[in-house]
Amino acid sequence: MAVGIFDSGLGGLTVLDAAQKRLPEMEFVYLADSAHAPYGVRTADDIYDLTVAAVRRLFDAGCDLVILACNTASAAALRRMQEGWIPSHKRVLGVFVPLIEALTERHWGDNSPPREVEVKHVALFATPATVASRAFQRELAFRAIGVDVEAQACGGVVDAIEDGDMILAEALVRSHVDALRRKMPDPQAAVLGCTHYPLMQDTFQDALGGEVSVFSQANIVADSLADYLDRHPDKIGAGEAAFLTTGDPRRVSDRATQFLRRQITFAAA
Ligand code: DGL
Repeated sequence: MAVGIFDSGLGGLTVLDAAQKRLPEMEFVYLADSAHAPYGVRTADDIYDLTVAAVRRLFDAGCDLVILACNTASAAALRRMQEGWIPSHKRVLGVFVPLIEALTERHWGDNSPPREVEVKHVALFATPATVASRAFQRELAFRAIGVDVEAQACGGVVDAIEDGDMILAEALVRSHVDALRRKMPDPQAAVLGCTHYPLMQDTFQDALGGEVSVFSQANIVADSLADYLDRHPDKIGAGEAAFLTTGDPRRVSDRATQFLRRQITFAAA
Protein backbone atom coordinates (compact mmCIF):
# COMPACT_ATOMS: atom_id res chain seq x y z
CA MET A 1 0.00 0.00 0.00
CA ALA A 2 1.83 3.12 -1.12
CA VAL A 3 1.25 6.66 -2.28
CA GLY A 4 3.68 8.11 -4.82
CA ILE A 5 5.53 11.35 -4.19
CA PHE A 6 7.41 12.98 -7.04
CA ASP A 7 9.88 15.82 -7.29
CA SER A 8 12.59 16.81 -9.74
CA GLY A 9 15.07 16.18 -6.94
CA LEU A 10 15.35 16.42 -3.19
CA GLY A 11 12.83 19.18 -2.43
CA GLY A 12 9.88 16.81 -2.28
CA LEU A 13 11.53 15.16 0.72
CA THR A 14 10.22 18.10 2.76
CA VAL A 15 6.69 17.00 1.80
CA LEU A 16 7.49 13.30 2.28
CA ASP A 17 8.86 13.95 5.76
CA ALA A 18 5.75 15.87 6.83
CA ALA A 19 3.47 13.23 5.24
CA GLN A 20 5.27 10.41 7.10
CA LYS A 21 4.81 12.26 10.39
CA ARG A 22 1.14 12.94 9.65
CA LEU A 23 0.42 9.39 8.36
CA PRO A 24 2.89 7.09 10.14
CA GLU A 25 1.22 3.88 8.91
CA MET A 26 1.31 4.89 5.25
CA GLU A 27 4.00 3.75 2.82
CA PHE A 28 5.40 6.07 0.17
CA VAL A 29 7.30 5.57 -3.07
CA TYR A 30 9.44 8.67 -3.57
CA LEU A 31 10.82 9.40 -7.02
CA ALA A 32 13.49 12.05 -7.61
CA ASP A 33 14.21 12.83 -11.25
CA SER A 34 17.71 13.91 -10.26
CA ALA A 35 19.13 13.27 -13.73
CA HIS A 36 16.96 16.11 -15.08
CA ALA A 37 16.87 18.54 -12.13
CA PRO A 38 16.43 21.43 -12.00
CA TYR A 39 13.11 21.67 -13.82
CA GLY A 40 12.70 25.37 -13.07
CA VAL A 41 14.81 26.51 -16.02
CA ARG A 42 13.14 24.20 -18.58
CA THR A 43 10.32 24.90 -21.03
CA ALA A 44 6.73 23.93 -20.19
CA ASP A 45 6.79 21.17 -22.85
CA ASP A 46 9.96 19.70 -21.45
CA ILE A 47 8.58 19.79 -17.89
CA TYR A 48 5.38 18.11 -19.12
CA ASP A 49 7.28 15.26 -20.84
CA LEU A 50 9.55 14.65 -17.84
CA THR A 51 6.65 14.77 -15.37
CA VAL A 52 4.57 12.31 -17.43
CA ALA A 53 7.52 9.88 -17.56
CA ALA A 54 8.05 10.15 -13.80
CA VAL A 55 4.37 9.70 -12.93
CA ARG A 56 4.17 6.69 -15.27
CA ARG A 57 7.09 5.16 -13.34
CA LEU A 58 5.18 5.65 -10.06
CA PHE A 59 2.00 4.13 -11.55
CA ASP A 60 4.14 1.16 -12.65
CA ALA A 61 5.39 0.87 -9.06
CA GLY A 62 1.78 0.26 -7.99
CA CYS A 63 0.76 3.77 -6.91
CA ASP A 64 -2.82 4.85 -7.68
CA LEU A 65 -2.29 8.32 -6.21
CA VAL A 66 0.73 10.50 -6.98
CA ILE A 67 1.50 13.82 -5.31
CA LEU A 68 3.51 16.18 -7.48
CA ALA A 69 5.63 17.54 -4.62
CA CYS A 70 7.07 19.98 -7.12
CA ASN A 71 5.53 23.38 -7.81
CA THR A 72 7.24 23.62 -11.17
CA ALA A 73 5.62 20.37 -12.37
CA SER A 74 2.31 21.33 -10.73
CA ALA A 75 2.37 24.73 -12.45
CA ALA A 76 3.62 23.69 -15.88
CA ALA A 77 2.26 20.15 -16.37
CA LEU A 78 -0.56 19.14 -14.03
CA ARG A 79 -3.49 20.79 -15.76
CA ARG A 80 -2.44 19.39 -19.16
CA MET A 81 -2.02 15.92 -17.62
CA GLN A 82 -5.47 16.11 -16.03
CA GLU A 83 -7.00 17.16 -19.33
CA GLY A 84 -6.19 13.94 -21.15
CA TRP A 85 -3.37 11.77 -19.91
CA ILE A 86 -4.27 10.42 -16.45
CA PRO A 87 -6.16 7.08 -16.52
CA SER A 88 -9.58 7.30 -14.85
CA HIS A 89 -8.67 5.02 -11.88
CA LYS A 90 -5.52 7.03 -11.05
CA ARG A 91 -5.13 10.45 -9.41
CA VAL A 92 -2.39 13.04 -9.58
CA LEU A 93 -2.55 15.97 -7.17
CA GLY A 94 -0.39 19.10 -7.05
CA VAL A 95 0.90 21.23 -4.21
CA PHE A 96 -0.49 24.62 -5.22
CA VAL A 97 -4.12 24.38 -4.26
CA PRO A 98 -3.65 23.29 -0.60
CA LEU A 99 -1.23 26.18 -0.10
CA ILE A 100 -3.59 28.73 -1.61
CA GLU A 101 -6.51 27.36 0.41
CA ALA A 102 -4.43 27.90 3.56
CA LEU A 103 -3.46 31.42 2.48
CA THR A 104 -7.07 32.32 1.67
CA GLU A 105 -8.55 30.68 4.80
CA ARG A 106 -10.59 28.11 2.87
CA HIS A 107 -11.42 24.50 3.57
CA TRP A 108 -11.01 21.83 0.90
CA GLY A 109 -13.67 21.97 -1.79
CA ASP A 110 -14.95 25.43 -0.83
CA ASN A 111 -15.76 26.67 -4.34
CA SER A 112 -17.62 29.80 -3.28
CA PRO A 113 -16.83 33.01 -5.22
CA PRO A 114 -13.59 34.86 -4.54
CA ARG A 115 -13.69 37.07 -1.48
CA GLU A 116 -11.53 39.50 0.49
CA VAL A 117 -9.03 37.83 2.81
CA GLU A 118 -6.85 39.02 5.67
CA VAL A 119 -3.59 39.08 3.74
CA LYS A 120 -3.20 41.82 1.08
CA HIS A 121 0.48 41.84 0.06
CA VAL A 122 2.05 38.49 -0.74
CA ALA A 123 5.60 37.74 -1.84
CA LEU A 124 5.94 34.58 -3.92
CA PHE A 125 9.35 32.90 -4.11
CA ALA A 126 9.50 30.19 -6.78
CA THR A 127 11.48 28.81 -9.70
CA PRO A 128 11.66 30.78 -12.97
CA ALA A 129 9.25 28.32 -14.68
CA THR A 130 6.68 28.54 -11.86
CA VAL A 131 6.82 32.35 -11.89
CA ALA A 132 6.50 32.41 -15.70
CA SER A 133 3.42 30.13 -15.61
CA ARG A 134 1.49 32.59 -13.40
CA ALA A 135 -0.32 29.50 -12.05
CA PHE A 136 -0.16 30.84 -8.49
CA GLN A 137 -1.86 34.12 -9.41
CA ARG A 138 -4.49 32.23 -11.45
CA GLU A 139 -5.40 29.84 -8.61
CA LEU A 140 -5.39 32.72 -6.15
CA ALA A 141 -7.76 34.79 -8.32
CA PHE A 142 -10.35 31.96 -8.14
CA ARG A 143 -10.43 32.31 -4.37
CA ALA A 144 -9.48 35.83 -3.27
CA ILE A 145 -9.85 39.43 -4.38
CA GLY A 146 -7.65 42.42 -3.65
CA VAL A 147 -4.43 40.47 -3.05
CA ASP A 148 -1.31 42.01 -4.50
CA VAL A 149 1.27 39.32 -5.44
CA GLU A 150 4.90 40.12 -6.22
CA ALA A 151 6.78 37.12 -7.58
CA GLN A 152 10.53 36.60 -7.34
CA ALA A 153 12.12 33.96 -9.58
CA CYS A 154 14.86 32.46 -7.43
CA GLY A 155 17.41 31.35 -10.02
CA GLY A 156 20.19 29.10 -8.76
CA VAL A 157 18.74 28.10 -5.39
CA VAL A 158 17.57 24.60 -6.43
CA ASP A 159 20.92 23.85 -8.13
CA ALA A 160 22.83 24.93 -5.01
CA ILE A 161 20.65 22.74 -2.75
CA GLU A 162 20.93 19.73 -5.10
CA ASP A 163 24.73 20.21 -5.02
CA GLY A 164 24.68 20.43 -1.22
CA ASP A 165 26.23 23.93 -1.40
CA MET A 166 24.20 25.48 1.43
CA ILE A 167 26.49 28.53 1.71
CA LEU A 168 25.71 29.47 -1.89
CA ALA A 169 22.01 28.64 -1.37
CA GLU A 170 21.90 30.98 1.64
CA ALA A 171 23.61 33.83 -0.23
CA LEU A 172 21.21 33.43 -3.15
CA VAL A 173 18.14 33.38 -0.88
CA ARG A 174 19.27 36.63 0.77
CA SER A 175 19.84 38.32 -2.58
CA HIS A 176 16.42 37.15 -3.89
CA VAL A 177 14.73 38.49 -0.74
CA ASP A 178 16.52 41.83 -1.27
CA ALA A 179 15.35 41.90 -4.90
CA LEU A 180 11.78 41.18 -3.82
CA ARG A 181 11.89 43.93 -1.21
CA ARG A 182 12.89 46.45 -3.85
CA LYS A 183 9.60 45.65 -5.62
CA MET A 184 7.43 45.11 -2.50
CA PRO A 185 9.01 46.71 0.60
CA ASP A 186 6.49 45.36 3.14
CA PRO A 187 4.99 41.97 2.29
CA GLN A 188 2.63 40.61 4.96
CA ALA A 189 3.12 37.02 3.89
CA ALA A 190 5.70 35.12 1.90
CA VAL A 191 4.97 31.91 0.06
CA LEU A 192 7.80 29.44 -0.42
CA GLY A 193 6.51 28.17 -3.77
CA CYS A 194 9.14 25.52 -4.32
CA THR A 195 9.44 22.39 -2.21
CA HIS A 196 13.21 22.81 -1.99
CA TYR A 197 12.86 26.13 -0.15
CA PRO A 198 11.68 24.78 3.24
CA LEU A 199 15.25 23.46 3.51
CA MET A 200 16.20 27.20 3.63
CA GLN A 201 13.19 28.34 5.66
CA ASP A 202 15.23 29.85 8.52
CA THR A 203 17.22 31.93 6.02
CA PHE A 204 14.03 33.15 4.30
CA GLN A 205 12.48 34.04 7.67
CA ASP A 206 15.63 35.76 8.88
CA ALA A 207 16.02 37.80 5.67
CA LEU A 208 12.32 38.73 5.60
CA GLY A 209 12.08 39.60 9.30
CA GLY A 210 9.85 38.27 12.05
CA GLU A 211 6.70 40.21 11.04
CA VAL A 212 6.34 38.36 7.72
CA SER A 213 4.35 35.10 7.92
CA VAL A 214 6.15 32.48 5.88
CA PHE A 215 3.91 29.82 4.30
CA SER A 216 5.67 26.63 3.36
CA GLN A 217 3.98 23.63 1.87
CA ALA A 218 5.18 20.55 3.71
CA ASN A 219 2.66 20.46 6.58
CA ILE A 220 -0.15 22.01 4.55
CA VAL A 221 0.19 19.35 1.83
CA ALA A 222 0.51 16.54 4.40
CA ASP A 223 -2.76 17.62 6.07
CA SER A 224 -4.46 17.86 2.72
CA LEU A 225 -3.23 14.36 1.75
CA ALA A 226 -4.55 12.90 5.02
CA ASP A 227 -7.90 14.55 4.35
CA TYR A 228 -7.97 13.26 0.76
CA LEU A 229 -7.19 9.67 1.81
CA ASP A 230 -9.95 9.83 4.44
CA ARG A 231 -12.38 10.62 1.65
CA HIS A 232 -10.79 8.28 -0.95
CA PRO A 233 -9.37 5.23 0.87
CA ASP A 234 -9.48 3.31 -2.43
CA LYS A 235 -6.62 5.49 -3.70
CA ILE A 236 -4.07 3.86 -1.41
CA GLY A 237 -2.27 1.88 -4.10
CA ALA A 238 -0.52 -1.50 -4.04
CA GLY A 239 3.16 -0.47 -4.21
CA GLU A 240 5.84 -0.95 -1.57
CA ALA A 241 7.84 1.84 0.08
CA ALA A 242 10.93 2.86 -1.87
CA PHE A 243 13.19 5.78 -2.73
CA LEU A 244 13.95 5.90 -6.44
CA THR A 245 16.15 8.25 -8.44
CA THR A 246 17.05 8.69 -12.09
CA GLY A 247 20.44 10.04 -10.90
CA ASP A 248 23.33 8.47 -9.02
CA PRO A 249 21.72 6.60 -6.07
CA ARG A 250 24.78 6.96 -3.82
CA ARG A 251 25.11 10.68 -4.29
CA VAL A 252 21.37 11.27 -3.91
CA SER A 253 21.23 9.04 -0.79
CA ASP A 254 24.06 11.05 0.84
CA ARG A 255 22.29 14.37 0.26
CA ALA A 256 18.90 13.03 1.35
CA THR A 257 20.42 11.60 4.54
CA GLN A 258 22.03 14.99 5.23
CA PHE A 259 18.72 16.87 4.71
CA LEU A 260 16.39 14.56 6.64
CA ARG A 261 19.02 13.68 9.28
CA ARG A 262 18.20 9.97 9.01
CA GLN A 263 19.47 7.24 6.74
CA ILE A 264 17.74 7.37 3.35
CA THR A 265 18.78 4.87 0.69
CA PHE A 266 17.83 5.49 -2.91
CA ALA A 267 17.79 2.86 -5.63
CA ALA A 268 17.97 3.38 -9.41
CA ALA A 269 14.53 4.17 -10.86
N1 DGL B 1 11.06 21.35 -5.87
C1 DGL B 1 10.75 21.87 -7.18
C2 DGL B 1 9.60 22.87 -7.06
O1 DGL B 1 8.85 22.81 -6.11
C3 DGL B 1 12.00 22.38 -7.80
C4 DGL B 1 11.93 22.52 -9.25
C5 DGL B 1 13.22 22.51 -9.98
O2 DGL B 1 13.72 21.40 -10.19
O3 DGL B 1 13.70 23.58 -10.39
O4 DGL B 1 9.39 23.70 -7.91
